[in-house]
Parts: sequence; C-alpha cells; structure tokens
Amino acid sequence: MKKKVLVANWKMNKLTKDLHSFFEIFSEKLKSRSQFLSHTDVIIAPSYTLLMASVQLFRSLDIGTSAQNVHHLLTGAFTGEISLPMLKDLGVSYTLIGHSERRQYFNETDELVAAKTKICLEHAIAPIVCVGENKGERDRGETKSVVLRQLKAVLNSIDKSNSLMIAYEPVWAIGTGVSANPKEAQEVHLLIRNCLVEKFGSAGRNVSILYGGSVTKENIGSFLNQSDIDGALIGGASLDPLSFFSMLELAALND
Ligand code: PGA
Repeated sequence: MKKKVLVANWKMNKLTKDLHSFFEIFSEKLKSRSQFLSHTDVIIAPSYTLLMASVQLFRSLDIGTSAQNVHHLLTGAFTGEISLPMLKDLGVSYTLIGHSERRQYFNETDELVAAKTKICLEHAIAPIVCVGENKGERDRGETKSVVLRQLKAVLNSIDKSNSLMIAYEPVWAIGTGVSANPKEAQEVHLLIRNCLVEKFGSAGRNVSILYGGSVTKENIGSFLNQSDIDGALIGGASLDPLSFFSMLELAALND
C-alpha cells in the first residue's frame, strides 16, 4: 500500500536554533512512536540556509529534507541561484517546484515549472510540483481548467513518473485559514489522477498527490480519508513541532 506523505513547508521562517529546537521536540515525540514512519513519509522543507543542518539531523530519524526551489539549469552565471547538483551535494532528495508564491512573486511560468521538473527527474531529485487556482479563477469556475493547464505543461515535458509528486494547493486556501472542502479537493485530485494514469498508465496510480492550503491537525483527517489524497503539504501548522507531530499521528491513524 502507498505510504502517506507529509511535507512541512517552512517557507522563509526559522533560524538554526529553531531547527534544533524543532528537531529535539519532534525526535523526542517520535522515540516511542517510530512505527508511524512505516505508514507515512515525512519530509521537511526548510530554507536554503538550513538544508545542510536539516539533512544531517533528520537523516537519523529517516526523515527526508526538501528544498523549496531549484534552478532549471545545472550550472552557469546565475548569481544568487541554487542548482540541482548543489542540492544533491548536501544530500537533499526532494524539492518543491512551482509553489504558488514562486509563481506569484517570482513570475514562475508553466514552462519554467516544467523545465525544473524535467531536470529533477533526470537527476534523481524528487520533484513536488505545486498546482492550484487562485481566488479569481475559482470564482469564475476555472479551477479544473487552470489545474489541467499547469499539470499538462509538466506532463508534456516528461516521459516517466519516477519519483514525481503533485501538490494541489488552491491559492486562496494558502495561509488564509480557509481550507478547501475535502470533497471538492478530492474532485480535483481525481482529475489529476486521471491525467497521470492517461500519461503513465498504471504507474500514474503510484504518484502521490498531496493537498495543501490551511491544513491543520483539526482538518487533516478529513483530507487524508479521501481516496485520491495521498498526503499533505503543510505551511503554517508545520512550524510547531507538536502540531506537526499530531498530524503525523493522525496520518498513521488514518491508514
Ligand atoms: P499553509 O501553506 O498550510 O500555511 O496554508 C501551505 C503551503 O503554502 O504550502
């Protein structure tokens, strides 16, 4: 059976001391509950500056570390950017790609997101590709067409699903405290699933599709019990180790 996946997206938060205190509290809680990790893959996505320390600490718990972004080329004159070989050099195994904050504030296009996904799959870093409609698009009834456009740009540029993961994150639900209705989210996940199966055949069923947008310990269960929601991408509620641990506990119970 497919494991659930929980990703903590810390965005531009936390310093070294915060990473260490998160680790201490989380590892203490996990000590007597390590069986939770046999049902759920846990991935921490800290800022670039904490990646190395995160890999070193969380590796001991069998918890992965993800970048929040990566450049679409391997090397070159791109001041301030971070490449895939640099992430691999640190032992990072995953990266978020095309998070709505990158699309919105850093003008990342569908084409760029597709190029980043392609290069990740070619170089064995698992891409967690984010898609989702904004409020205006939702209000105009364009949710499915926007998600399909974003997804197809990516699927058209790759030919194997390998370690691909997709995160459906309605932009209007991110950081607002207003999550999607789990049944409505499931409809979008099913649309994504059908596209993945159309493209990759039965391998499309193995691609994990995560929901993100105001996930909390109070609502995570109602998302995880939908048939095509394989996990969650969690921002604000992942900053607190106890809250994030509760979500891991609920994911295990939901199995
Ligand atoms: P949120 O963020 O959980 O704070 O809504 C989710 C995300 O942006 O990945």
